[in-house]
Amino acid sequence: MKTERIIIENKEHPEEELLKKPAEILKNGGLVAFPTETVYGLGANALNEEAAKKIYEAKGRPSDNPLIAHIADFDDLIPLVSQVPESGKKLMEAFWPGPLTLIFPKSGLVPYGTTGGLDTVAVRMPADPIANALIRLAGVPVAAPSANTSGRPSPTTADHVWQDMNGKIDMILDGGAVGIGVESTIIDVSGEEPVILRPGAVTQEMASSILGQEIHLDPAIATGPMKAKVKPKAPGMKYKHYAPKAELTLVEGEMKDVVKTINRLVEERLSKGFRVGIICTEETRESYPHGIVRSLGIRTKEETLAHSLYSVLREFDDLEADYIYSESFSKDHLGQAIMNRLVKAAGYHIIRT
Ligand code: TXA
Ligand code: MG
Repeated sequence: MKTERIIIENKEHPEEELLKKPAEILKNGGLVAFPTETVYGLGANALNEEAAKKIYEAKGRPSDNPLIAHIADFDDLIPLVSQVPESGKKLMEAFWPGPLTLIFPKSGLVPYGTTGGLDTVAVRMPADPIANALIRLAGVPVAAPSANTSGRPSPTTADHVWQDMNGKIDMILDGGAVGIGVESTIIDVSGEEPVILRPGAVTQEMASSILGQEIHLDPAIATGPMKAKVKPKAPGMKYKHYAPKAELTLVEGEMKDVVKTINRLVEERLSKGFRVGIICTEETRESYPHGIVRSLGIRTKEETLAHSLYSVLREFDDLEADYIYSESFSKDHLGQAIMNRLVKAAGYHIIRT
């Protein structure tokens, strides 16, 4: 299949003319990758089971892993769900359009092919103007997982999507680099208590303050698979996600000990002829004399770290690093999402100095 790539210059007010063809493709059961404010999504008509099947094929993703249905307007939610719980209403009003996905009991309209056989459906209204205009023009809810090959870091640029999806999908809309860089927060409002299934840019504090009660992380996510005796509620969280090709190790502790430990580990690996990467921040980048050093951004500005995390992981894939050593970051605010992704990418391999 030939994959067409369309560059959208005016990201704030994309020209409708450019979006007509991709909207038609979506409506007719094809696959179009598009930018959102979190990461690039791989879109298909969420009400068309055959189209959803194509997503799983293109990504090489297990088909029991459900998809998020993306909508453009509040009214689009009603046909997809059998009920809108009070907590869901409050969260929608506060954070939609934006980086928040909510899990509702599904209606009969949503095929099980989209929800991985579940009786619930994940819905999100993205804020990105290209995503919003495309979904509105398509006139159908758009199922869209992150547009990466299953198991690779999510794409934050159209080039990342191209690397993984060229030849496998109909079209890529190139709207440049995304804003946030990590996937949306997922909150399940279908049960008795709302629960966070995946941390993201709508933080635990932000959601708790809107709900007027402390909202918790699914325990399987908070502690990792080794400690939790429960299965994660988001099926996707049970797979090894966001994995770079290299073996990634996180190093935690006082910064000067972390730097010392990383330098020692790097030298050991280099002396054996391996290619070694280091993930750090602007504050420490000069402290690493050897190895391939990449700074994510400014330590206290979590949004800078989130923004470059996946590109840096992908760059180490391209550079064919054998080992990567990463500093750890605060779990405050967006840091919770960053550490969640890094710890998973590391396969829970953490050294405490
Ligand atoms: O930011 C995002 O959410 C991006 C952009 C493209 O919108 N999309 C995204 O989709 O990250 P994906 O498919 O890579 O991740 C969706 C996650 C998976 O872990 C999946 O298991 C979970 O959402 N999920 C979807 N439907 C669910 C449901 N009904 N119940 C529980 N978890 C669900
Ligand atoms: Mg994904």
